[in-house]
Amino acid sequence: MIAGASLARLPAMIRIRAMTGKDVPSASRLLGESWRRTYSPIIGAETTARISDEYHAPHRIAAELADDNKMSFVAERPDGSIAGYAMAKMDATGDVMLERLHIDKSEFGTGLAADMLHAVFAAHAGIPSIALEVIEGNDRAIAFYRKHGFEVVERRPASHGAEGHSSFIMRRLLPRA
Ligand SMILES: CC(C)(COP(=O)(O)OP(=O)(O)OC[C@H]1O[C@@H](n2cnc3c(N)ncnc32)[C@H](O)[C@@H]1OP(=O)(O)O)[C@@H](O)C(=O)NCCC(=O)NCCS
Repeated sequence: MIAGASLARLPAMIRIRAMTGKDVPSASRLLGESWRRTYSPIIGAETTARISDEYHAPHRIAAELADDNKMSFVAERPDGSIAGYAMAKMDATGDVMLERLHIDKSEFGTGLAADMLHAVFAAHAGIPSIALEVIEGNDRAIAFYRKHGFEVVERRPASHGAEGHSSFIMRRLLPRA
């Protein structure tokens, strides 16, 4: 049993929920900052900014939100600010790719990323496996995904115009109920 005194000391909850249109500006900003911080040292600041400006603009994020084959999630702090953003896409064959998982740097190592990952898994109950693409050199993300059961199944040229760079495709089985 958890005593009331212990409960009172629990940290303020970050709530993971389905993304809505109101979250678009925050998600776009978080994604742009995260891409620049993560990928500038790997693929260069100019390429990173070009890709991010093209793919992460609010109108692109809003269009994805309206796409029935994509599911988007945010992590909301008690003050209403957005601490994380994830998006998974189902293709025509029913295969699911985790296209994005980004948390604010202040949340690194807190377990929030794992909670968001599990929210994505739960939303895809019944799907046999889930895959993702991560640019080679993003060692923190690769370590995170390995820790959560993903394995590298393929190495291929990075998508989104990051010419000359490679990506890993990682995949993990999803548990059946
Ligand atoms: C990827 C991300 C969601 C993971 O969340 P996180 O809270 O940082 O992950 P965790 O701290 O639980 O796990 C990261 C692991 O990598 C390890 N790590 C950190 N830097 C590392 C490095 N340079 N090389 C190898 N491992 C590293 C950490 O020690 C930790 O492992 P441990 O728990 O065994 O100590 C988060 O870092 C993020 O948003 N990154 C920027 C966006 C991004 O790259 N998203 C993925 C795109 S596909």
